[in-house]
Amino acid sequence: MAQLWGGRFTTKTDRLVYNFNASISFDQKFYEQDIRGSLAHVHMLARQGILTADEEQRITEGLEGIARDVRSGALQITSEYEDIHSFVEAVLTERIGDAGKKLHTGRSRNDQVALDMKLYIRDEIDAVDSEIFNLLQVLIRWMDEGLTMYMPGFTHLQKAQPVTLAHHFGAYFEMFRRDRSRLSDIRRRMNLCPLGSGALAGTTYPLDRFYTAELLGFDGPTRNSMDSVSDRDYVLELLGCLSTVMMHLSRFSEEIIIWNSNEYRFVELDDGYSTGSSIMPQKKNPDIAELVRGKTGRVYGALVSMLTTMKGIPLAYDKDMQEDKELTFDAIDTAKGCLRLFAGMLDTLTFNRERMEESARRGFTNATDAADYLVNHGIPFRDAHGIVGKLVLLCLERNISLDELPLDDYKAVCPAFDEDIYQAVSMEACVDRRLTYGAPGPEAMKVVIAENHAYLEENPPKR
Ligand code: ARG
Repeated sequence: MAQLWGGRFTTKTDRLVYNFNASISFDQKFYEQDIRGSLAHVHMLARQGILTADEEQRITEGLEGIARDVRSGALQITSEYEDIHSFVEAVLTERIGDAGKKLHTGRSRNDQVALDMKLYIRDEIDAVDSEIFNLLQVLIRWMDEGLTMYMPGFTHLQKAQPVTLAHHFGAYFEMFRRDRSRLSDIRRRMNLCPLGSGALAGTTYPLDRFYTAELLGFDGPTRNSMDSVSDRDYVLELLGCLSTVMMHLSRFSEEIIIWNSNEYRFVELDDGYSTGSSIMPQKKNPDIAELVRGKTGRVYGALVSMLTTMKGIPLAYDKDMQEDKELTFDAIDTAKGCLRLFAGMLDTLTFNRERMEESARRGFTNATDAADYLVNHGIPFRDAHGIVGKLVLLCLERNISLDELPLDDYKAVCPAFDEDIYQAVSMEACVDRRLTYGAPGPEAMKVVIAENHAYLEENPPKR
């Protein structure tokens, strides 16, 4: 039980209390960020004349050595310490002697942990962003290839109007593009440095918080020391954003699962991205998509937990906030893992073009176009709607599609129909004529795809 306090205590901490209080089992995850923050702090202290150049050098070398050894495995982070901050300071002092004891000058674990969490989240925002970027690249490849891969578009999971694979995937491209934009908003808003706020009320040392902020790549220091140590808005914002990412992935997973079902057979999953059954030899299951859909609940859970944890905390720092770490780490790792796996699964999909097109041809996805045909012949849309409704009924009775209905039957219901109705309701024509900006017609789609290619080129991930 190694801890940074104890002077005013007369009895030792109970083992259970110690374990309950300790955070090292999980906050060791940000040892890199903790050391990075300490290095900046030390440089600032030396620049301000609070530490000597010699002390600065010894502490710097000591901290760098610790980072190196933890990375290589030569130094193990053990549960003998309360948290990662105590661990680093204790090892530093052990290694360099008394100078190590000066590291914590003008600092509290409250502003230190706030800094570590911010540095960690900032790094992870970049990591999540790069996973989304990778998924967008897979999506746009399918969009390029799927420009004339016709398929039904659905509303209420009922066939509605024909679209293309490029258009359907283009919808997901937009969702994930928005997710990236949300991430960058969060990154920008959170990018103020809390270090130097002390426990809650700043410090009497002449710290240069602007310099520390600059060293750590922040846009400046936070403006209120009480808020600095108790703000976890950026954690909540990230969890909110990750929940939206997972919601998008979950909807997409649901579609892949449906498309992969025996009844649809629009897609076939690569063997490497599906699993078998221990009892039913014929099975090839979409477990990856199901797990992504399932894990969405975990990330939502983290958001709700954290909102609940924060809601009753009086200013400034309270230990409740230690709960932010496990939830956030798990949500980030879950989202990154799901993005990676989902992109791989999507990349290796095989589309059953014939099934998709045949499905688009069936189910009267061209009924709106038949009505539009009549409108082009001077019939008001509402009347045209009724006329085509009658034709659909006729087709249903005979189990045929609008393309197969003889012209005499068309004419019997409405004399405005002519031979060119067959061209008008051909599935390809139904799609190809939809040329408004954002519509599935390949010529319209090409414009948007080109814009999306430019977007990817102009907005590469930070790492
Ligand atoms: N482990 C703590 C946390 O994660 C670090 C801050 C401790 N501060 C304190 N006053 N006990 O929040």
